[in-house]
Amino acid sequence: MCGIVGYIGKGDAKTVVLQGLEKLEYRGYDSAGIAVIKDSKIMIEKKKGKLKNLENHLENLDLESHIGIGHTRWATHGEPSDRNSHPHFTEDMSIAVVHNGIIENYATLKSELIQKGYNFTSDTDTEVVAHLIHSIYEGDLFSALTKALKLLRGSYALGVIHKDFPNEIICTRKDSPLVIGLGENENLIASDVPAILKYTKNVYFLEDGDIARLTADNVEIFDKTLVPVEREIKVIEWDYEQATKGGFPHFMIKEIFEQPKSIEETLNRRIHDGIIDFSDVLTEDEIKKFNMIHIVACGTAYHAGLQGQYALREISGVNSLVEIASEYRYMNPFVDENTLAIFVSQSGETLDTLAALKEAKARGAKTIAITNVVGSTISREAHKTIYTMAGPEIAVASTKAYTTQVIILQLLSIYLAEKKGRISKEKASDFIKELYSVSEKIKTTLDNVDIIKDVAEFMKDKHNGFYIGRGVDFATALEGSLKMKEITYIHTEAFPAGELKHGSIALIEPGTPVVVVAMQTNLLEKTISNIKELKARGAHIVTVARNSCLEAKEVSDEFIGVGEIDDVFSVLLAVIPLQLLSYFTSIKKGIDVDKPRNLAKSVTVE
Ligand code: M6R
Repeated sequence: MCGIVGYIGKGDAKTVVLQGLEKLEYRGYDSAGIAVIKDSKIMIEKKKGKLKNLENHLENLDLESHIGIGHTRWATHGEPSDRNSHPHFTEDMSIAVVHNGIIENYATLKSELIQKGYNFTSDTDTEVVAHLIHSIYEGDLFSALTKALKLLRGSYALGVIHKDFPNEIICTRKDSPLVIGLGENENLIASDVPAILKYTKNVYFLEDGDIARLTADNVEIFDKTLVPVEREIKVIEWDYEQATKGGFPHFMIKEIFEQPKSIEETLNRRIHDGIIDFSDVLTEDEIKKFNMIHIVACGTAYHAGLQGQYALREISGVNSLVEIASEYRYMNPFVDENTLAIFVSQSGETLDTLAALKEAKARGAKTIAITNVVGSTISREAHKTIYTMAGPEIAVASTKAYTTQVIILQLLSIYLAEKKGRISKEKASDFIKELYSVSEKIKTTLDNVDIIKDVAEFMKDKHNGFYIGRGVDFATALEGSLKMKEITYIHTEAFPAGELKHGSIALIEPGTPVVVVAMQTNLLEKTISNIKELKARGAHIVTVARNSCLEAKEVSDEFIGVGEIDDVFSVLLAVIPLQLLSYFTSIKKGIDVDKPRNLAKSVTVE
């Protein structure tokens, strides 16, 4: 939710900042802007819309400088427009600020500042930060910012420059991510690692409340009590290439095709010599003690949680509850020291999930994060973290992060089942073999996408449709439906297959697309009856089932077959055609698939 980049060093700040913003556009693309210091003056340029607009605008402008900050926006306060774009600045153009997050008490601060004579030129919460620092400033930018922070409520990652300090960037964070990249005679700040990977792999992940002063050859960090602190330098494992499209036309299709590899790497990270190991996150005593598992997440990660719940019930017989994070903290959840609370988040920055985690922690639960981003806020807040090995996921629509989250929850279920004596070592190793076979089976689907393209051709002109499934196939259908909505703008809804007849079947007309997930062997006959009910009313049935499932093939208008797999893991194969169907439909509709409207990759507002 908004991306910020800052650069100070020997290179051209404009080039570095624009390259960084390009890698952060997934965080928002309502507008973009840049501020540099040139000849002791702050120069600011900003444009509504995607970064390309700003880049075109800057083409013939001389902004050459060794220091700059930039921003790509996902609008919260104030419509997308040039004037609401960041950086925000003071009337005398002495201070410029970029911000990710929300200043909750901005309205009070704004009216106080107006009374003091400050004029506002935007509708944003961020502009108060610039004027507030100005109102406190007595010749030292660092000290003015630290005093201003005491008056701010809310979440922020901030990058600040002052025309009289052309050799330093001051930055800080609270409940919004910020990394510092350490280069040679150059240093950078960014909301996320891909923005700086071209320049360095050595980073500091700032802690909540940290304030840092960057010059070209030095970085000083202070904690929230202003005591100088040493943070550990982390070396990023993946490289710049992994954050590029690598020959694919879009990040989403690249990430779909990366799933065989990311699944294998996630398995390898947790399985050693054929044995699953989570001893780093759970002790034997804890496993005995917990009588309930809560899985809390948003969107696609929530759907991964539903798959986890099914595996926990089927494989380990463990009682669990899956909740949407934005509801969890306000529902007075039954959570205590006997609860294991698992928070699933690709980005590790989702504010709703973070807030839910803090709630569970405060009530005494042991908390575990499942995330893809090392050093993310959720990973640091949780007692323990399990990393998925998906590599950077840039497309807004989550694909490889989802399948790796599901794998982790399934592995955890097998691990708990074995520890609790519910399954034998042999059974556990059969499950592991089955999971290791998934990558090859996914490759077969990826090699045969023509049928899916044909279905996409049919889907592209539709305005609505349904996804149905029974048992855990319903959870798979939910994910398929979300994917279709977010990147094609076609309104789809997912239902348990037996539920449509209780009302929503009234919406079925000749030609209404219904995507059926039919992977649960024991429920197949029932699902086929539901297909027939829908066909009798004219629905156009697209079924995803095992290649061998001739019964489903016979009753469907279109049939997308996948390989053989144990029912409990079936989503790992069934979701791939659903991801591809959304992707190809989006492309056929001419939508910017990696950056669909109104969305952002990382949702750091409530
Ligand atoms: O980063 P997170 O996993 O916490 O994000 C949660 C959701 O915002 C995310 O999964 C969203 O639903 C995706 N855009 C779906 O593709």
